[in-house]
This record gives sequence, C-alpha cells and structure tokens, in this order.
Amino acid sequence: MHHAASPIGIFDSGIGGLSVLQALRHELPREHLVYVADSGHAPYGERDEAFVQQRTSAIAHHLRAQYGIKALVIACNTATAAAVEQLRREMPDLTLIGVEPALKPASLSSQTHHVGVMATRGTVSSARFARLLSEHSQNTKFEVQACDGLARAIELATELPPAADMQATDLWERCAKHTQALGSFGLKTGEIDTLVLGCTHYLFVKDELRALLGPDVQLIDTGAPVARQVRRLLAQTDMLAPEDQSAPQIQLFATGGLSSLQAAAQRWLDLPAGHCAHIEIA
Ligand code: DGL
Repeated sequence: MHHAASPIGIFDSGIGGLSVLQALRHELPREHLVYVADSGHAPYGERDEAFVQQRTSAIAHHLRAQYGIKALVIACNTATAAAVEQLRREMPDLTLIGVEPALKPASLSSQTHHVGVMATRGTVSSARFARLLSEHSQNTKFEVQACDGLARAIELATELPPAADMQATDLWERCAKHTQALGSFGLKTGEIDTLVLGCTHYLFVKDELRALLGPDVQLIDTGAPVARQVRRLLAQTDMLAPEDQSAPQIQLFATGGLSSLQAAAQRWLDLPAGHCAHIEIA
C-alpha cells in the first residue's frame, strides 16, 4: 500500500525522462523519486507498439511491487502514445501521468501558425498522435519529423566529454538534418516559429537546436507542465509528501548499461554516480 511519503515512479527508455525528473525535483522538492531507464530495451521509438506496451506494464508492476509508488510518470512520449490507455485499464487505481508532444501550447503561441514537431517514429505513427494532430490543426500547420536514431545518439554522446566544438559532432549533424527537413524557421509569414520537442530526450540537444534555429524560434518541451500536473493530482488525493519530509531520496536504475545514466545524472542533475544502480525487470 502506498501513502503520502511513498515515492513517485518515473520511467523512460533511457535518460530522456531525466528532463522530466528535473522538472519534478524543481516543482516537488520534498518527494522521493524512483527512476527507471529501460536501457536494456531501448530505443522504444523504433520498436512496435506491443513491445512498448509490454515493457510499460512490466515496469509499472515492478515499481508498485518493489517501491510502493504513489504515482507513475511515463516520462516518454513513445510509451505514453503506445501504452497509457492500456495501463489505465490495467491499473485503474494508479495515479498515472503521461507526456505527449505539446501541440496545443505550440498552436496557441505560434504567431506564424506554422509549427515543427520532432518526435520518434513510434510517437508520430501512433493513433494517439494522429488524434492530437487533428484536434489542433484548425489554425496551425504542423510539420512533423520522425527523428530515427536521435535519442540513441543523445545517449551515446552523453557518455563522451562535452565537445569543444559543438558543430563538429554527430549530434549537430543529426539535428541539422532533421530541422532542415522540417522547413525554414523564423518569424516571417510562412516560416516555422515554434518547435515542439516531442521526445523527452530532445531537451538534451536544446543548445544545438537553439544554435541552429536562432534565438527567435520557441522550443517547447513538457517537463514543467507535467510536473505541475503531478502536483495537482497528488494534492487532490492528499498525497503530497509530508511537510517534514526534508531529505528526499532519488534512486536511478537502468535495465541495461549504466554509463549513460550515470553521465547524464552527473551532468544534468548534479547527482553523483552512487545514485545509479542496475535493475532487472523481466
Ligand atoms: N524518450 C522517449 C520519448 O519521449 C523515446 C526515446 C526512444 O526512442 O527510446 O519518446
């Protein structure tokens, strides 16, 4: 059984969900957090839906059984698209929060009514994404790019020391290729003025994207709004961490190799490698 002092579970195929964990830490600094990077089965974006559903269900069961989580954040657009509805049916009593590409905020804030979306192939080919796109396409033209290989390249690059010349990296080339495929960016009529980061990994290439697209293009990710939604849902059920919970624990697990999780935790969250451990989830 869970209670207000129980941890929040978070998972992704890899390090991408750390961008959501970062926002959760900021919004809910007292909460205990247990994170699973399913790196032994990544990337999800190029797997079929049944596989991602099966992994999502296995991880949710594990986090409930082993850690008594009070809520689960699917910090992965691909897994949300493939599995959130199934998991809601399977665990109707679990407080469940998914992430999806921020098409609505993008369409509300775009001045040129022209928006780019970068996401995995799994996300952009899902029925859930097709619905989202049709709901928000009345006043906005969306350009959508399936960024095969980008999440994996971000994982690999995280293990290397930060590059002296950003423009000489594989990540730069990939970001350049994907953004060029979307069209021309800028504030003039017809140009794309807003880019939706529809995969949680992509926040970790925001410097590359910013340098490629210039300072005027808006980059939209979902970390902060998802963290606020978690707060709202926990508050509704009186499940926010008690006021005196002053030393929150953050545990990070990976089902495959640990190195990119350790490097990302250190680099992005300032958490030493001791927070990371291997986990088996069959
Ligand atoms: N971070 C994940 C997402 O938000 C997917 C990365 C992958 O392909 O595994 O879609």
